[in-house]
Order: sequence, then structure tokens, then C-alpha cells
Amino acid sequence: MSATCVVGLQWGDEAKGKIVDFLSDEHDYVVRYNGGNNAGHTVVWGERRFALSLLPTGILRSHMRAVIANGVVVYPPKLLEELASLEKAGIQVKDRLSISAQAHVIFPYHIAEEVECGGKAAIGTTGRGIGPCYSDKVNRANGIRVGELLHPEHLKARLTDIIPRKNKIIKALSADPDKAPVFEVEKLWADYCQMGEQLRPMITNTTMLLHEALQNRKKILFEAAQGSLLDIDHGTFPYVTSSHSLPSGIWSGSGVPARQLTRIIGVAKAYTTRVGSGPFPTELNDGPDGIGERIRKVGREYGTVTGRPRRVGWFDALAVRYSAAIAGCDEITIMLLDVLSGLEEIKVCVGYEYEGKKINYFLNDGVELAKCKPIYETLQGWKEDISKARKLEDLPVQARRYVQFLSDLIGLPVSVISVGPDREQTILNKIG
Ligand code: IMP
Repeated sequence: MSATCVVGLQWGDEAKGKIVDFLSDEHDYVVRYNGGNNAGHTVVWGERRFALSLLPTGILRSHMRAVIANGVVVYPPKLLEELASLEKAGIQVKDRLSISAQAHVIFPYHIAEEVECGGKAAIGTTGRGIGPCYSDKVNRANGIRVGELLHPEHLKARLTDIIPRKNKIIKALSADPDKAPVFEVEKLWADYCQMGEQLRPMITNTTMLLHEALQNRKKILFEAAQGSLLDIDHGTFPYVTSSHSLPSGIWSGSGVPARQLTRIIGVAKAYTTRVGSGPFPTELNDGPDGIGERIRKVGREYGTVTGRPRRVGWFDALAVRYSAAIAGCDEITIMLLDVLSGLEEIKVCVGYEYEGKKINYFLNDGVELAKCKPIYETLQGWKEDISKARKLEDLPVQARRYVQFLSDLIGLPVSVISVGPDREQTILNKIG
């Protein structure tokens, strides 16, 4: 039994890709079990930079077998584009990738539904059709699985049934019905049959594949997409994504029982970011010359998928302690610590003021969280550039104290500290 999960503990974009890449040497399989191309994972190897959104990051390592499991929603044009771009970069992936026949398929009408029917504006979603596709899965009548792309006549019958309904919904809910997009059965059918054929060699029963791998004592690495606070059940609803981004999604999203997990690593940034709408108690709205903008610039905090500037704020220990508990983390990693270099003081949220009372726990209810005011502890910053630090002793004492402080607040050891995007810019000593 050996399965590891790497999960984000904030609102996504915690630099999970770097940790997955780091752990790849010790694993044989890498599995995506949730989300779709709303995710953005970046890996930097020296001069080479890879940004993936549907493929698991671990696929970059040639010894790894990669799996897109049943809990993922697949947008075939994006998947084919990512496969082509890796092959162009000299990384052969097609013979190492398996796609679940049970994963659901995103069609252009899902994207239109999200944009035209208000989800994008109301929640600040990525506009990739994620929510509408998961809704169709749960609602069943309109959901189409990857395996269905391989049966042309069957697919035609399904699309003939579904598309007129979708056209009606989109037109009825569109702000400008006369300009609402109209989808044609023949065109979508032809396009998706053709893409299905391209994907055919990779489509399989990934649940059985993973169980065989476990029987053969292979090591599996689960790569969560988005962050725990975006989890559909345990995140800050309604400002969440539509899937189970916590490790709880592994069981249903891949068919691998949770008891197989032997290590759960929670990834957190040294500060907090959030993209899209929703409450964010520690957000820094301190103008163009403020600390928020400085962190955004130094940390290059712009969405990998949408390019949107990310909202930036101080580390929220209540939020991370909450996520780490629900995720069942054994350890945490602190990413982008170098971004805080040069700040006189660094604040950490250690409590909230909520309806006149001090509380020391996170409120995952979007309405309640919006009423919370952060209570901070202020720590001394450090001036030194820490991007060349490779061991704990290379860090200024203030930086070490900061990490120790976070570890104490969360109650878990910090096993990795990241001081830059490159895989070399990593400190592996345990704190806490
Ligand atoms: P959706 O997943 O596109 O439906 O978007 C729902 C919310 O999750 C929005 O606030 C998005 O900005 C956010 N979101 C989705 N995927 C990611 C991600 O990979 N990183 C950060 N935020 C994300």
C-alpha cells in the first residue's frame, strides 16, 4: 500500500505542481481525480517552463504513468492541445496516459451556459464550462462520458436529444437572447467523434488500472486540482468549484479507497491568494503602492488559466488549519517564502472578530466568513534575498521564525520550504 496525495490548503494556486514534480521520483503513477482545465499547474526546470491545466503535472517525468480519472471533466480540444504541445517539446506522453471512459466531457454549450447564464458573473468562475458539465453529470439526462465518444451512432442520438434542450436554455437565460450562440448537432457530433478517435488509444477503465497498479505494489501520487477552500462541500460555498478538491474526492473520483493513502501533503503559500469572487478576510486592498500589489508583482500572482490578477493577502492560519484538518494532512509545505523578502513586518491571521466576539476557528460559510475581521500577529520580516537558500540554516532567523510560527499554529510539521519556482530552490528540512 503506498499512495500519496498532494493537496492545496488555500483557494488554489499554491504551487502544488512543484511539489508533485518533486515527488515524482518516488512514484510510478500520477493521477488527477477532480476538476478540469480550470486548473493551472506550472513546473519550472531551469530555462524550461511548463503550464498544464488538464494533464497531471507528473506526466512531465518520463517514468511516470499518468491517469485522468473518472472524477475529472475533460474538454477534448484542450487535452489534445496540451498533448501536442508536450510532444512538440520532445516529451512523449501518449503511450503513458490513460483517460477514464467514465470521466465526463465538456462541450462548447457548457462554456456558453456558464457565460450566458450568469455563473461566471455570480461566482467569478474560470469560464471553462466546469460547473455546467458537473451539473449535467449529477443531473444525468444531459451528461456524456468520455467512453461515449467512441460510439458514433450512440453519440449522435445523445447529442440530438441534448443540444436542442441546451439551445433553448441558453437562449432563454441569455441577457441578449438574439445574440445567444446556437449549437448544431452535426458539427459537434463530427468534431467530437474525430477527437474521440484521437483519444481512443488512451481511453480505458482507469479504476481497474489503478487497482492493478496497487496490487503490483506501484506507488501512486494523487494530484489534487484547485484548493481545499474551493471544495464543493467543505469550501466557502457558493464561491467554490464544482468538484471535491479535498482528498475525500479520491475515493469517488478514482475508485481508489481512501485507506490506501499513506501520506497526505498539504501545500500552502507563505501568504494567501484567491481568484474570482468570495470572502477573503486577510485580503490586502492597500492600493497600487501597497504591500498587496508588491506581493502580486513579486509573486507573479496572475492566473495561469485566465491571466486574471489574483487577490492577495496575509497568511490565514485559521483557514489553513481548517483545510489541513479536513484534508487529513500529515505535513505541510510552505511555498513562495522568497516573495515576502524585504518586508519590514509580516502579519499572520490568528483569529477573527465575528459579530463582536473573538473566534479562533474558520467559518466555511460564505456569508459568515464575509463578516469576519482578521486579528493579526505581527512578525519581523527579513531583508535578505533567500532564493539561493538550500537548507534551513541558510535562511535568516526571522524567516525561520516565521515558518516555525506557521507550523505551530497549524499543528503540523513543515517538510518543504520553497524559495523560488525552480526545483532546485527547495529546502527539505523538517520544521515543527
Ligand atoms: P470554476 O472552477 O471555473 O467553476 O470556478 C469556481 C471558482 O474557483 C472561481 O473563483 C475560480 O476562480 C476558482 N478556481 C477554479 N480553478 C481554480 C484554480 O485552479 N486555481 C485557483 N482558483 C480556481
